[in-house]
Amino acid sequence: MRTQYYTATSLDGFIATDDDSLEWLFQLGDIEETSYPTFIKDVGALAMGSTTYEWMLRNVIGPEAKDRRPWPYDQPTWVFSSRTLPAVPGADIRFARGDVGPVHAAMAEAAGGKNIWLVGGGDLVGQFHDHGLLDDIFVQIGSVTLGSGKPLLPRAITTPPLKLVSARMVGTGFAELHYEIQKPVAQT
Ligand SMILES: NC(=O)c1ccc[n+]([C@@H]2O[C@H](COP(=O)([O-])OP(=O)(O)OC[C@H]3O[C@@H](n4cnc5c(N)ncnc54)[C@H](OP(=O)(O)O)[C@@H]3O)[C@@H](O)[C@H]2O)c1
Repeated sequence: MRTQYYTATSLDGFIATDDDSLEWLFQLGDIEETSYPTFIKDVGALAMGSTTYEWMLRNVIGPEAKDRRPWPYDQPTWVFSSRTLPAVPGADIRFARGDVGPVHAAMAEAAGGKNIWLVGGGDLVGQFHDHGLLDDIFVQIGSVTLGSGKPLLPRAITTPPLKLVSARMVGTGFAELHYEIQKPVAQT
């Protein structure tokens, strides 16, 4: 079981614009050409912050969605928020707040040996990293710059550095990178 941040970013490190648009992303390539279809097969539980969840409510689930579809995940999904948010009928959505540590333990149990997908945003993933709970980063670097926006991962990870495991071109729209988090060696 590994805890994995899987996302797409602009070249300058933003996963969405300041106003949470992803329009820049969808022109860049076909998700079926990426590692996503293989990645999602091994996911047993998901976590996301409220901005990401509300993006899905507006753009995927809600009546105003341009390309309206059912909730896309069969796996249990934890949504972090300090507010009371609407659920999606028929979807296994569990709301959480505060310390990510106990929530991670519940997610690991629900995942039944499969991986945990941290969908984002960046600070929520950072909270898991702060607890030593992040194992991998899979990032599709899109061939655009946004100038500003929602950060990929607002943390300093320098020593030990990330370990680059693989790098692959996906057409001309993405470079797909896989990093492992190297855990600091315990002091004796
Ligand atoms: N490029 C991609 O592939 C990709 C992937 C994922 C997301 N996105 C987009 O990136 C943007 C991410 O937005 P974001 O950076 O604002 O992040 P976010 O993690 O989606 O939302 C942040 C919010 O989550 C809640 N939250 C976070 N940690 C919490 C905790 N421990 N306890 C309680 N609540 C907590 C807080 O909201 P409350 O006010 O509700 O408490 C916080 O303001 C969205 O637009 C999303 O659609 C892009």
